[in-house]
Amino acid sequence: MGPSDEAMLKLMGPINASRGQALFTFSKNLWNVNSSSVLRATVGYQHALHPRLLSSQSDLPPLPVPPLQVTLDKFLRSARPLVTPEEFQTTQDLVKQFSAAGGCGPKLQKLLEEKAKTTRNWMADWWLRTAYLEFRYPVVVWSSPGLVFPHQKVCNQDEQLTLAARVISGAVDFKCLIDNNKLPLERMGKDPLDMSQYSKIMGTCRIPGIPRDSLQHADPCNPPKHVVVAYKNHFFEVPVYGENGEPLSEDQIRKQLCEIVSGPVKPAVPIGILTSDQRDNWGKAYQELIKDPKNVCSLETIHKSLFLVCLDDPNPNFGSLDKRSIAARQMVHGCGSKNNGANRWFDKTIQFVIGTTGELGITYEHSPAEGPPVAGLMDHVVDVINKGGLKLSTSGCVPKPNHLPFNTSSELQCAIQTAEKNLDAMVDDLEMYGYVYKGYGKEFPKSQKMSPDSFIQMAIQFAFYRLHKLPGAHYESASTRKYFGGRTETIRSCSCESVAFAEAMLDCSKSDEEKVKAMKEAVNGHKKYTLEAVNGCGVDRHLLGLKLIALENGIQVPELYKDVAYVRSSHMRISTSQVAGKCEAFMCYGPLVNDGYACCYNPRANEIHMGISAFKSCPDTSASKFKDALEESFDDMHNVLVKTQKSKL
Ligand code: COA
Repeated sequence: MGPSDEAMLKLMGPINASRGQALFTFSKNLWNVNSSSVLRATVGYQHALHPRLLSSQSDLPPLPVPPLQVTLDKFLRSARPLVTPEEFQTTQDLVKQFSAAGGCGPKLQKLLEEKAKTTRNWMADWWLRTAYLEFRYPVVVWSSPGLVFPHQKVCNQDEQLTLAARVISGAVDFKCLIDNNKLPLERMGKDPLDMSQYSKIMGTCRIPGIPRDSLQHADPCNPPKHVVVAYKNHFFEVPVYGENGEPLSEDQIRKQLCEIVSGPVKPAVPIGILTSDQRDNWGKAYQELIKDPKNVCSLETIHKSLFLVCLDDPNPNFGSLDKRSIAARQMVHGCGSKNNGANRWFDKTIQFVIGTTGELGITYEHSPAEGPPVAGLMDHVVDVINKGGLKLSTSGCVPKPNHLPFNTSSELQCAIQTAEKNLDAMVDDLEMYGYVYKGYGKEFPKSQKMSPDSFIQMAIQFAFYRLHKLPGAHYESASTRKYFGGRTETIRSCSCESVAFAEAMLDCSKSDEEKVKAMKEAVNGHKKYTLEAVNGCGVDRHLLGLKLIALENGIQVPELYKDVAYVRSSHMRISTSQVAGKCEAFMCYGPLVNDGYACCYNPRANEIHMGISAFKSCPDTSASKFKDALEESFDDMHNVLVKTQKSKL
């Protein structure tokens, strides 16, 4: 890709919709969207809901529309550290014009409030469509996270298959819990959370389309009874329920896996690699693929399966790179076309990846759900592994796995070559590490009476400032699952307080007490924003809603959206998310913007597990330096707190 193409892509801007971060950069894209395409939204929120889950949803409140002035004030505060005083003056003027009585803001607000009266979640379908299904970048690196499980003991293919069978058995067991409404209702404080994402993670597949993809969900009244296993780029249908409708045992599943690996050893035409390409490329190839009825049958089987299981070949030699970082790359991109990059169906919501030397995890397509339900699935599967498997009856005959054939035309061969080239370029460009900070975990900030999440967020802000000597716009996802159909709101973690804190920490003339004071103000300021965001009162979804309602009504998008404060505060150089799991695991993904970092973390009591990445092609960023800067920041924050406490004694 030449520099001008790259600039063009950047301008189009729908970057990393996965974490829902696309909306700002998306704004430029939406600028050019005509209102009729907005009106043609076809994504229905309730498609996949299991009838039982649907009933437990009924008491959840609708997503509120925040008051206009509250959002605008918050927007101004969040943009302040990222612009000059002169630029800020212009932004303030624009905000005044926008919010004036009779101005565009109140008119759009009224339209949005009217829409909100007709639906229980005014953002849900818009979000699915604009943040995911219309996103044209590849899902690999740009959208789909990897989830790295604790490393397992696997020394040979036999053990790889035993682990795979146990993982499948554990995941099917989790599916039974979902279907039988046996998952404990999750809460935030006292508030029950929307559980519907759980019923969407299995049996779902993204289907490529131009200009918009779609999601195919399993029929909740006739749920799928098979998984698909990928082995050497071949795909096999593997039934996981017996004739009596009961889940097969681990042994029965294992027998089927043995049959697969004893079959064809020659790798298949790498059809799966097509799913890693830019969505328009894949959309075109898909049209070619479905000209053949045999391919249609194979595709249907993949789409309808509960999930994919990738029995991988060995990874390439990464030299001295640690196990976690290797597994992170395997989960995010399969290490390219010469390795496991085609042993995938990246459109499938859940793909378990089982490596040859104990790597285990999930590659997950983000559009139907956020990280926490996927982490819930992981925790269940890891429990089953740790217990030595489920003790299910092994009676009854074992069905045979069914090889799924694909025929390829010369056009498809060509598309495969393009996809291989594109995937390899992405793989080469991504610098990613799995990293564990061992100095302390969430118990330390708690002992200091500070929110652990806000504390970690401020350490990340500090690390960025330490490296770049300037503030970085910073995205954190906050769950809005308190509300019906809720997904996320953005926490804008960069604030005047976070910058003052980073500056104070790096200023030798400041006393430790002054540093601690600045830290507490930053942490508490972040916590305040978090509470507003989880209560549906952030800046980002509201401003996106106002823009989309303008487009829907053929109203010109207001100047405010082109202003430097909006653009810069939306260029999220730091893309973060807490995905907590019970086990020693972490989620990882690519940065949101070309000159950015991604940092996803699982805070445990006494350590923090993280996935950190940056693009090698950006001369300003380095994931390795960021990791070191973060470690130093965590250490410095600890030391200054401990020192000031000792001096008080
Ligand atoms: N003093 C002592 N303890 C405190 C404290 C303080 N001042 N503030 C918070 N704590 C405690 C809390 O009570 C809580 O205790 P618990 O572990 O016993 O429950 C713990 O510290 C953690 O709280 P905190 O770190 O403040 O945040 P959180 O767990 O509420 O998480 C978010 C904050 C934003 C991560 C969470 O609300 C959220 O939205 N998570 C989902 C994000 C998501 O969807 N990510 C995936 C996107 S793909």
